[in-house]
Amino acid sequence: MEQRDRWATKLGLILAMAGNAIGLGNFWRFPYQLASNGGGAFMIPYFIALFFLGIPVMWIEWTTGRYGGKYGHGTLGPMFYLMARESVKPKTALIFGVIGGMLAFSVSSLLSSYYYQVIGWSAAYTYYSLTGAYFGQDTVKFFLNYVANLKAVIFFWGITMVLLGIAVGQGVSKGIERWVKVMMPLLYVFAILLVIRALTLGSPVKPEWSSIKGLEYIWTPNFTALKQNFFKISLAAAGQIFFTLSLGMGIIHNYASYLGPEDDVALSGLATVSLNEFAEVILGGSLAIPIAFAYLGPEQAIKGGVGLAYMALPNVFMHMPGGRIFGAMWFLLLWFAGFTSAIATYNYLVAMLEEDLKIDRKVGTWVVFVFLFLLGLPVALDSSLVYLSELDMWVGSYFLVLLGFFDVIVGVWLFKPDNFWEELHKGAFINVPEWFKPIIMYIAPLFMAVLLIGNTKDYYSMGALRFHVSKAYVENVLGGSYPDAVPLVLRARIVILIILIIGAIEA
Ligand code: PHE
Ligand code: NA
Repeated sequence: MEQRDRWATKLGLILAMAGNAIGLGNFWRFPYQLASNGGGAFMIPYFIALFFLGIPVMWIEWTTGRYGGKYGHGTLGPMFYLMARESVKPKTALIFGVIGGMLAFSVSSLLSSYYYQVIGWSAAYTYYSLTGAYFGQDTVKFFLNYVANLKAVIFFWGITMVLLGIAVGQGVSKGIERWVKVMMPLLYVFAILLVIRALTLGSPVKPEWSSIKGLEYIWTPNFTALKQNFFKISLAAAGQIFFTLSLGMGIIHNYASYLGPEDDVALSGLATVSLNEFAEVILGGSLAIPIAFAYLGPEQAIKGGVGLAYMALPNVFMHMPGGRIFGAMWFLLLWFAGFTSAIATYNYLVAMLEEDLKIDRKVGTWVVFVFLFLLGLPVALDSSLVYLSELDMWVGSYFLVLLGFFDVIVGVWLFKPDNFWEELHKGAFINVPEWFKPIIMYIAPLFMAVLLIGNTKDYYSMGALRFHVSKAYVENVLGGSYPDAVPLVLRARIVILIILIIGAIEA
């Protein structure tokens, strides 16, 4: 058998994994989750979820991935099959293989279909910041006009996809690793420069709006809010942990499959978590909200929501000294962050073709390109963003947890807890303390079961689970107008279903 591609250097591997995890989730999603879930109060369930969910699942996915790689597999179907075989008959193991393969394929492709769009917006806004295109304009209108401008949307999304294709086509060590070695250090430099700029912003509008006040808001826990909305805030925090660490997607497993069978996973997994959390809590937390605070005041900064990065911040850059440069830096930072994550979902799909169907990587890369283009087109065509929101609801918060749950069932329980523990420590640079084992075995899956039930209830009460698409759901949850948005919601659901079926057949 031909030697499988492997990470060339330890540094390259760590940067690739950090690039995988550090994404729009850190700089775009985290700030508005924090702002809309009680500010500082959000950080309590957030850190709890990090410890009891994030770290355990990260270790499971690294271990599962390296194990699959040993047998020449970088995708979840074969990995789950191989591990489940340790305790059940091959036929039953096959069922777990199909579940894992189906979920990972669906998450990778559906997530890409809308996430790549948002990366495309960053490319556009980097350009618009440099040229000052939105300066002096109503930035909300500017954004809405942009997403309705098909030519521009497809152009910026298109170049992003072509570059992704080139990087992935070059392979793991010669492509992905080289690209992240350039992009990740730049990302940190940009982020640090921006944080310095952000924290030295007094408010030109009102002294009590300084960016430092914004930081205070983030870090002051609002216990009343937490008590009142305990369940909702906890769900959001755990969902953010999954999303930001790239858990439940199949892409951590995939990257780990390019390790040697004796390469450390215990310390490397922990390093991935630490690098991501530094980029999220310290860097991500000190950017969007404090900046918006200084110029727009608390109310606007907090209700900025999904649009904070693309609608509220441009309004700041146009008034800030050096705003073109800082604006461009902010959006290029988003673009790098998104790009180095997107590479991972793209590579997952290429690995499927390469390993399971024996299609040459170069050819596979462009097959995936066409596939992802077609899947992304309906998202690009919908300027109301209802289709995007519907996908994100299901994929971005629900499927991840479901896959994470099967991670523990297969990677720990069916593989057998002692085997898992031994595998985690093979070649390890650190010893995970024995008391952490029950957290991985019992607490993490229990936590996820509660999450799944909670999410299901939540979706039900919002009206997301009914066949009849309600007015309240469309208007309050997806932010569209009824009944125009109904066909979009139905279309999104049909696409999700088709992708799940293809995934099951493929696996
Ligand atoms: N962890 C990534 C983030 O924070 C999530 C992601 C990875 C999304 C890969 C899409 C593709 O943004
Ligand atoms: Na992240």
